[in-house]
Amino acid sequence: METLDPLDELLSCRLDLRGRSVKPCTIIIFGASGDLTARKLIPALYHLYCEKQLPEPFRILGFARRPKSDAEWRQELHLAFLKFSAGGQPDCGKWEDFAANIGYCAGEFGEATAFKNLERRLTGFGIESLRRNLVFYLATSPSQFGEVVGQLHNARLLVKGEGAGFVQRLVVEKPFGRDLASARQLNQELTRFAHEKQIYRIDHYLGKETVQNILMFRFSNAVFEQLWSRQSVDHVQITVGEKLGVGGRGGYYEEAGALRDMVQNHLLQVLALVAMEPPVSLEAECIRDEKVKLLKSIRGLEPAQTSFYAVRGQYGAGQIDGETVPGYRDEAKVNPASNMETYVALRLLVDNWRWAGVPFYLRTGKRLPVSASEVRVQFRPTPNVLFAAQCGPNLDANSITLRLQPKEGISLRFNGKTPGASMEIRPVRMQFDYQAEFGAYTPEAYQRLLLEAIAGDSTLFIRRDEVEMAWSVVDPIRQAWTDRPLSAEEFYPAGSWGPAAPDELLAKRGHKWRMMTTGL
Ligand code: BG6
Repeated sequence: METLDPLDELLSCRLDLRGRSVKPCTIIIFGASGDLTARKLIPALYHLYCEKQLPEPFRILGFARRPKSDAEWRQELHLAFLKFSAGGQPDCGKWEDFAANIGYCAGEFGEATAFKNLERRLTGFGIESLRRNLVFYLATSPSQFGEVVGQLHNARLLVKGEGAGFVQRLVVEKPFGRDLASARQLNQELTRFAHEKQIYRIDHYLGKETVQNILMFRFSNAVFEQLWSRQSVDHVQITVGEKLGVGGRGGYYEEAGALRDMVQNHLLQVLALVAMEPPVSLEAECIRDEKVKLLKSIRGLEPAQTSFYAVRGQYGAGQIDGETVPGYRDEAKVNPASNMETYVALRLLVDNWRWAGVPFYLRTGKRLPVSASEVRVQFRPTPNVLFAAQCGPNLDANSITLRLQPKEGISLRFNGKTPGASMEIRPVRMQFDYQAEFGAYTPEAYQRLLLEAIAGDSTLFIRRDEVEMAWSVVDPIRQAWTDRPLSAEEFYPAGSWGPAAPDELLAKRGHKWRMMTTGL
C-alpha cells in the first residue's frame, strides 16, 4: 500500500478558519422530553463541549410540558447519554462541568406565562449575550411551530432580523410539512416573526461527513468533474437501505411513509449535491441556489403516469439476521390494513443541459437486508470494438461508488487484466476508505449541524424554496398512491430487497441495481 508523503498533510487547506465566530448564546430546546433531545442533541452538544467548540459562556435550556427540576433533567440526560453513547465517541469525562450549564423550564406552548418564565430565566443569567443570542431548537411536531414562534415573538425573545448585534435563530426539525401546501403554510408561520436568514431547516443527511464530501469530491478535483455529465454517465443509482423497521415510530410513520420520511428530504438532497452545477462561490446562498436549480430541473411527474416512474412496497414479516421480525401492519400504532409504503424506488430525469436523458434511480426502504447508503455513478460502456466487441455484456462498464455509510469511502471500478498467460479481463477496484485514511472517528451529523447553527452558517440547512421544490417533486406521487390499496405484488418479505417491480423499472432500460453489501 502506498504510504502518504508526510508533506501531503501540509497541503491540507482549512476553509472554516476565516471569519467564523461562535458568540456566547443560550440554546433552548422545545420538545425537550423527546427522544431526539436525549439521544442526539445533548450528546452532540456534550461532544462539542469536550472539543471546546461551544462558545464561552453558553447555556442550554429544555422547555417541555412535564414539571421537573434542573437536577432531575440533568440526571435523566446523563442516564440516556450513558445508555446511548456506549461504544460511540470518546467521553472527555467532563459531564458534570457541561451539565452545570443545563437548565429546564416547564410550560405549555399555549401559555404566555410559560414564555414569561423563560424570559425571566434567561435574564437571570445576568449576561446580555446569553439573554439575547438565542438558538431555538424546535424539536416539536410541526403543528406547534407557529404557536411557539408566536409566543417567542410576544415574549420579545425572538426579534425579526438582526437587532443591535444580537441574533436569534430557529432550528427546525423535519418533517417540514406533509406536502407543498402545508410546507408553504409553515414557511409563512415561521417568516411572520423571523427572517428567512434566521431559519435553519434540518436535514441530518447534510451533517454527514460523506454527504458533505460530495461537493469536495466533485469540485476540488479536476479529473472526476470532466466525466460528470451525460457524455460519460449512463445512469446514477442512489440507495438508502435500512435493516430497521419502524420500531416505536409507527404512529409517525403512518402519516409519513418512506416518500415523506426519506425521499422528499434525504434522497433528494443527495441527488441535488451529486447533480448540481458548480456554485459561483462557497457562500451558503450560492450553494443553495444551485441545489434549487437542480430540483427545479427534475421532470415533473403526472399522478396518472406514476407507475412509469415510481414503485412502492410495504414489508411483511420475514427474517433479519436470522431473527423473525413482524410485518409493518403488525407494528405498534400501525393500522392493520395500512397502505403506507415502507419502500420507494423512483426513476427521475433531470432536464438540463448536463443531464438530459440520464436516469437517476433512487431507492430506499425499511427492513432491507443491509443498512447501507451509497451513490453509484455508472459510466457508459466503451464503444463496441476491441474488448467490448469480443466480450459483449461480460465487459463491465466503469463506475464510481460514493459510500455514504457505513464503511464510508469511495471506490472506482474499472477493468484490468487477470495476471497469467491467458487474455482474461475482469473488474478491479481502487478504493479510498475513510477509516484507513483518517482513523475511526466520524462526528455525529447533529454535532456538525448544531455547531453550524450556533455559528450562523446556513450552508448545511434547507432554504425555503428548496423545501418547497422538493415537495413539488414528490407530491404527485403521493397523490397517485393515496387511497390506492397496495396490491399483493407490492408487499415484500422483511430481509429482502423489496418488491420485484423496482428491478423491472431498471431492466426496461437495460439497467440493473447494484448488489449492495455492508462493505465498499
Ligand atoms: C430519519 C428518518 O430522518 O432518517 C428515519 O425519519 C430513518 O426513518 C433515518 O431511519 C435514517 O437516518 P440514518 O442517519 O440512520 O441513515
